[in-house]
Amino acid sequence: MALKNINPTQTAAWIELEKHYSEAKEFQLKKLFKEDANRQENFTRNFDALSFDFSKNLLNQETLKHLVDLAEEVDLKDAIEKYFTGDKINATEKRAVLHTALRSNSEAPIYVDDKDVTPKIRTALRKIKAFSNKVISGKWKGYTDKPITDIVNIGIGGSDLGPMMVVEALKFYKNKLNTHFVSNVDGDHVFETIKDLNPETTLFVIVSKTFTTQETLTNANTIRDWFLKSATVFDVAKHFVAVSTNLKAVVDFGIDKKNVFPMWDWVGGRFSLWSGVGLSIALALGFDQFRALLDGAEKMDQHFRNTEFSNNIPVLMGLIGLWYTNFYDCESEAILSYSHYLSKFPEYLQQASMESNGKGVDRNGNPVTYQTGSIVWGGVGTNMQHSFMQLLHQGTKMIPADFIGYKESLYKEEEHHSKLMANFYAQPQALAFGKTREDVHLELKVKGELDQLSTLLPFKTFTGNRPSNIILFEKLTPETLGMLISMYEQKVFVQGILWNIYSFDQFGVELGKELAKKILESQKITN
Ligand code: F6P
Repeated sequence: MALKNINPTQTAAWIELEKHYSEAKEFQLKKLFKEDANRQENFTRNFDALSFDFSKNLLNQETLKHLVDLAEEVDLKDAIEKYFTGDKINATEKRAVLHTALRSNSEAPIYVDDKDVTPKIRTALRKIKAFSNKVISGKWKGYTDKPITDIVNIGIGGSDLGPMMVVEALKFYKNKLNTHFVSNVDGDHVFETIKDLNPETTLFVIVSKTFTTQETLTNANTIRDWFLKSATVFDVAKHFVAVSTNLKAVVDFGIDKKNVFPMWDWVGGRFSLWSGVGLSIALALGFDQFRALLDGAEKMDQHFRNTEFSNNIPVLMGLIGLWYTNFYDCESEAILSYSHYLSKFPEYLQQASMESNGKGVDRNGNPVTYQTGSIVWGGVGTNMQHSFMQLLHQGTKMIPADFIGYKESLYKEEEHHSKLMANFYAQPQALAFGKTREDVHLELKVKGELDQLSTLLPFKTFTGNRPSNIILFEKLTPETLGMLISMYEQKVFVQGILWNIYSFDQFGVELGKELAKKILESQKITN
């Protein structure tokens, strides 16, 4: 059964939100906190190792009620069930969307075209486990009988960003294998990455769902040529493995059929790190840590599937995002992580969110008359405080921000961590409450610089009233990272349903690829 097709702007809840906005646009965070002594508590939801504090947003209980009504009215509940149970909700590509099944521990069957897909998932996981154990333990040998020391993931988009982000985020838990990522068709990227590698001890993981992607195939061929300078074609099978749905193309490349990890059309590229695409993760961290990542994601999936909307963290995140996009006309949102390990997280999320919800046509095929998909960007604290945060604090744009932090640091460097976390809490406070003219006056007086008041006053005040969420976990672990990623995946899903768009196709990336092909062909003719 297809997803329902409801224009959100035609719902009673949207009309209520519009009416409510005439009052809400005057909301002042300072006042909202003054009026409700328990505001922080009232607008915080806790789940497992996570606390989600959305009190510093321009909303009150009434806003929340209308937003939740909107989710009910577009029948988000029905969409969630269709998503988890394998309905072909990616209707334009006639595919189910089942990355949630990849991390599920449930014994319940999930049918796609009347076939239960869960046995295939379990078999694939066993294969990932056996293979990663063999490589990590040194039992897998290269062509000169040496164990593997380096892994190179060759892929792009979802076949690169997910595994790269996770390996970076969890490098504290890594084993001795060095992991590298080659994605761009830029040859400089390729040779910079492989220049110091020893072909005898390097394993290349070619990740491409289609095995037709120009960048990945060009890079894989270049790397195979480089490899063949020191080895023979008979050695390729020991050093190249693949993750793909296109078995024939993989075998034609010279990869042993036994060393192909499957993918399925019901796993979208940008949601695929939980499948064989995560092979580099399993190699870098060991299978148990990979499984813990999956378990964390499953935990969040269960919360998302089973919790009423007013307490459902991904649903709340999606609704709050919509509130800013469609009512406050915000164009972008910032992902600000107070863990250096999450430096690749915004880049990963850009694909997950912008490739999914950057759509201008609704599920009827009509141009949407409202904004969809916001621009996702971000950085890590405290580096960003010394660069772009100026614009968030005093610029002309309202940019809702997610602050992501961890109570515990991994190296337990208390002095550093307390400084980091002081900044983590200070930034949302500064954004929300700003600095008044009176504060500036007092500050200059204390400094004995009152003579500067008239010249500096406007520049030193902060308007405040700038919204943010505080997302706080106990500690960065494979499990909590799985929860974090799933939470954002589900936020993306929620917003796609609310906006009545198809989140799981990506036709918008095709035109540029086609034109590049034509340009390349015409260059060949003229040369
Ligand atoms: O160009 C977009 C895209 O199709 C992504 O959605 C996908 O993650 C990426 O290309 C890579 O595709 P493949 O895994 O088939 O090489």
